[in-house]
Formats: sequence, C-alpha cells, structure tokens
Amino acid sequence: MLAHNPVSPSSAAAEAVRDNHDGAPELQLDSVTKSYPGVQALKGVSFSVSRGSIHALAGQNGAGKSTLVKILSGAESPDGGTIRLGGELQRFRDPMDAQRAGIHTIYQELSLVPSLSVAENIFLGQLPRRAGASVDWQRMQAEARTALDRVGFDLDVRRPVASYSTAEQQAVELAKALHKDARSCSWMNPPPRCPCPMLSGCSPSSALCPNKA
Ligand SMILES: Nc1ncnc2c1ncn2[C@@H]1O[C@H](COP(=O)(O)OP(=O)(O)O)[C@@H](O)[C@H]1O
Ligand SMILES: [Mg+2]
Repeated sequence: MLAHNPVSPSSAAAEAVRDNHDGAPELQLDSVTKSYPGVQALKGVSFSVSRGSIHALAGQNGAGKSTLVKILSGAESPDGGTIRLGGELQRFRDPMDAQRAGIHTIYQELSLVPSLSVAENIFLGQLPRRAGASVDWQRMQAEARTALDRVGFDLDVRRPVASYSTAEQQAVELAKALHKDARSCSWMNPPPRCPCPMLSGCSPSSALCPNKA
C-alpha cells in the first residue's frame, strides 16, 4: 500500500509470528508491489501470518486492500516482491493455482448454489465417492456437519442452502473454504456482525476482531 495510506500488520500479528514455534510463518509477504496505469496500488507490502491466527486488514477506500487479496488469491499478479507459504516461494498463475496451494478467498458475493444442500455446497466439485463411484452421502453429510461445527454452526446439512439466512450461508461458505485444507483464508469485506463464533470469539476491542465497533 502507499506509504501515506498504510495498511500494516497490527502489533498483535507481529506477536503471533513471534509465537510460532517452528519459526516459519505460514504466510509471508515481502515487499509486494502492484501498479495499475497511473496508480501504485501496493508499495512494498510486507507482513507475516502465523498458523491459526485471525487478522483484519483495514484501510481507507483505495488503500489497496482488494488488490492485496486479489494477489493472494491468484486473481492478480504482483509486479514485484514475494509470497511464501510455509516458507516455500509461490507464484500463482490463477485462482485455481492459489487454491491448490491452500489459499481460499470468500468474496462478498457468495459462491454457493442455492438449490443444492448445505453438504453438497461444501463438497461442490469433490463429492466423496464409494468404490463403485456412487456418491457417499453419509460420509459427505457427516463431514459437512464437522466442517460447520468448526465454525460454530449446527445446520441441517441436507436442507437447501437457500433455506438459510445470509449469515448462515456465510458460515457455509467459510466451512467450505476451511474444509478444503485451506492454509490461508481471506474474507473480503466480512459482515460487520460476523456470524461465526470462530471469528467473533476475539475481543471486540482487538484491532484484529471483525466485530470491532
Ligand atoms: N483494475 C484496476 N485498474 C486500475 N486501477 C485499479 C484497479 N484496481 C484497483 N485500482 C486502483 O488501485 C488502488 C487500490 O484499489 P483497491 O485495492 O481496490 O483498494 P481498497 O480495496 O483498499 O479500496 C485504487 O487507487 C484503485 O483505483
Ligand atoms: Mg476493496
């Protein structure tokens, strides 16, 4: 981000990195730059995120938040700088490439299929199959319940996603991202009142808390 309009990692984030027992942050950005015609959106952005930590990226309109998340998600390429996951240098060709590496992004417009069940949405594109290639519905539903449990929700995973509230659908989206062995999950513009206990468990006074007033 531009120096006069910085979006920097909080001191809590730095603390989290120091706490990381193996010394290597899960996600590390060094001197990432990105320019569009006539504007430098990112100017030497560096920060680290340790495993299991939750951070908020805050800044004015135009500060470069979306650009940074697009670079992390493989939708845009940086002009310079490096991204490392678990210490390994990454160069994402596209969003699928980033997802394969374990970076998932939740956009404001949810990517759920309203008519499909909660379980089918969580497993979209990778339905678990039995040896005979038929869908293993029991396993899918059990694992979907576990995925939702991780984000603090207890939904009937057989019901269509459309029958749930927006907040519950956001929880399904988050469960879906985390279920795919995500190493890093970026949530673009989470709702002010985040529905997930997993995210809202942090202190409301913390700069990292999405529920911060
Ligand atoms: N595709 C684009 N083409 C040209 N300029 C862009 C593009 N995307 C973003 N920008 C510019 O880059 C800067 C950062 O934008 P953005 O990352 O969307 O900021 P934020 O998400 O913090 O509001 C802004 O000046 C914006 O106008
Ligand atoms: Mg934005």
